[in-house]
Order: sequence, then C-alpha cells, then structure tokens
Amino acid sequence: MERVIRASQAELDAAVAALRAGELVAFPTETVYGLGADAANPDAVRQVFALKGRPATHPVIVHVADAGQLSRWVRAVTPEAQQLAEAFWPGPLTLVLPRAAGVHDVVTGGQETVAVRVPSHPMARQLLQAFGGGIAAPSANRYGRLSATQAAHVRDEFGDAVKVVLDGGECPVGLESTIVSCEPGRLRLLRPGSITLGQLRAVVGDVQVGADASSPRVPGSTLAHYSPQTPMQRVPGEQLAARVAALCAGGQRVAVLALRAPPLARPDVIWMTAGLGHEAYAHDLYATLRTLDKAGCAVILVQEVPGDERWDAVRDRLVRAAAREATDGGTLPTFSVGELP
Ligand code: TXA
Ligand code: MG
Repeated sequence: MERVIRASQAELDAAVAALRAGELVAFPTETVYGLGADAANPDAVRQVFALKGRPATHPVIVHVADAGQLSRWVRAVTPEAQQLAEAFWPGPLTLVLPRAAGVHDVVTGGQETVAVRVPSHPMARQLLQAFGGGIAAPSANRYGRLSATQAAHVRDEFGDAVKVVLDGGECPVGLESTIVSCEPGRLRLLRPGSITLGQLRAVVGDVQVGADASSPRVPGSTLAHYSPQTPMQRVPGEQLAARVAALCAGGQRVAVLALRAPPLARPDVIWMTAGLGHEAYAHDLYATLRTLDKAGCAVILVQEVPGDERWDAVRDRLVRAAAREATDGGTLPTFSVGELP
C-alpha cells in the first residue's frame, strides 16, 4: 500500500482551525507523531500536559516551518547552532537555545531555554506552513509510555480525546529527535537520535555527551521512559535461548524481540525479529513493542543490540523502556563506551 504522506486541503484547514481555536492536533513527523498545540497559546499547551499526564516541569519542543521563524522563540542563535541547523534542518534534530522574551513558561518548563526543531515530514511541513506559527508538541503518547509511530497508535493512546489526527502513515525514522543543547562554546548531546554524535561532531567539532549539573534539564532523560506495561528485560544474545527456555519451563508466556529468527517455534513464545539493520530496527521498534505488549506475556525479553554508535539511540530507548523506576534527571551512560567523554 502506498504511504499517504500529504494531507488534503480539507484536512489541513480542519487542523489549522483546531490549532487557532486552542485545540490539539496530532500530526506525523519523520521521528514520531506529535501531540500539537499553538505554542503561543498557554492554555492550549496546558491541555497537552493534562492529556498526556505529563509533569508541568517537563518542557516541550516548539516546531517551526523554517529557521527564519526562530527569532520569535529564540533570543540568540549561536554560530554552532546555526551550523547544525544548516546541516540537519529540516530533519530529526532539536536544538536547545536561550528562549526569546515572551515564550511562555508552560512551553519551557520555567527554564531559560527553549527547544526548537524544523521537522522534515511533508505533512508536518504542510501543517506548519499553513498554520504559520510554532507548534508545541511532545510525542503523542501518555506520559512515560511508548511513542506513537502510526496514527493508529495515537488513537490507541488518546481515543476520542484528540479530535484531529493527521494520518501520515508510518514515521520513517521511528525514534525521537536527537537533542543538542547549544550554550555559547559548549554543545551537549542531551538525547541520542538518528543523527549520531559522529555526524554532529563532523559539523561542529566538539560535542559532549549527556547533561551535567549546569545543563538544561531534559526530563525525557528520566530513567524509566518509553515503556511498555509488560516488564521488559535486556538479554545478551548468547543467553536468550536459555532464558526463554527457563521462563517457559516455569509456565510463563514470553515475548521476545530479537535480532534473529527463533531457534524453534513454541506456542508459549511470541518471538518478533527486528532485523540486523539499525534503521529498520528503529523504524519498527515502537510498533513491535506495542504488539508484544498486547500479547499477554509475563515479560518481554529484548536481545541486546550492537555496541556501535549507530545503535546509540535504539540502545538508549531500550535501556529506558526496561527501567521500572522513574528517577528524574538520571542521565544514563547508554552511549557506546568509546564515545563517552
Ligand atoms: O522527535 C521528537 O523530538 C518528537 C517529535 C514530535 O518532534 N518530540 C518529542 O517530544 O520527542 P517529547 O516532549 O516527547 O520529548 C522532548 C524532550 C523532552 O525530554 C524534554 O524534556 C526535552 O525535549 N526538552 C524540551 N525543551 C527543553 C529545554 N528547554 N531544555 C532541555 N530539554 C528540553
Ligand atoms: Mg516523549
């Protein structure tokens, strides 16, 4: 089936009218679906927090049609931020910059910075161009849960509570954007995404990994995040078959997300193969975890993924999805060891 990636004029009109009326619009981006509100309307943005169940201290990303709109949201664009924007926008990169006067606290979580991004998905671009303003949008999922990479996932999360859901098919990347905080002379990778540390460094030289005490807070770095309801454990590939066998021997149904096909088919094992390529794996990850989460298993075992940096974003999400305790501010060293500062 051909992927639907452009909204009709009627869909766009309805979405823009909803945003102008202070209502929410879910829309596709190249990373994941966003739950959007007019970023200049604090009451509308508050509804996003209420619907997600998201703490008010967690800031949201402002999406804009192009970098020319940044001055409404950002006080000053550092030279490094400019270089990154030129290299990767439109695309899956979020820049954290000093906020402009008039950007509401509800957007920034009361911080002096604001996160901005120019998405590349054709439907997101259509929406942003037609709306003309900034759209504040976190991922379109209940707080702490798996992100949505299909319109059906958004409906699963929110039902009729979100009236306008633009359906752009499956999100091509499948993982949330790379987030870089840009303080003068000091760049930090706050969340890994499909744009890797190596790609960032190739453009701007030094980029440090993770936040420190003085960095902007990234509540998405809360340890437990992106989680299925079924407990999830990461297992080294060579131990996978034995772990599955032990759990089944104990009478449990087991879900498995593996890089390879199952050694043998068993009725009490739901085994999904994610493939060996990091892009296909990322594309399918949330949809696969949603399917496994609904399979009625006692546990989801996830085979550990390769250690190279192209897998950093996937590994980061798997570590957080497997964490049960929310320890806010936890910044995990989930990057490749060779990449740590
Ligand atoms: O790919 C994405 O980034 C998707 C799509 C919809 O654009 N959005 C997304 O939003 O993942 P959300 O809210 O689920 O994650 C945004 C992350 C959060 O961890 C938030 O704490 C962080 O960005 N963030 C937002 N504003 C920030 C700021 N001013 N300083 C530091 N971190 C910020
Ligand atoms: Mg999110």
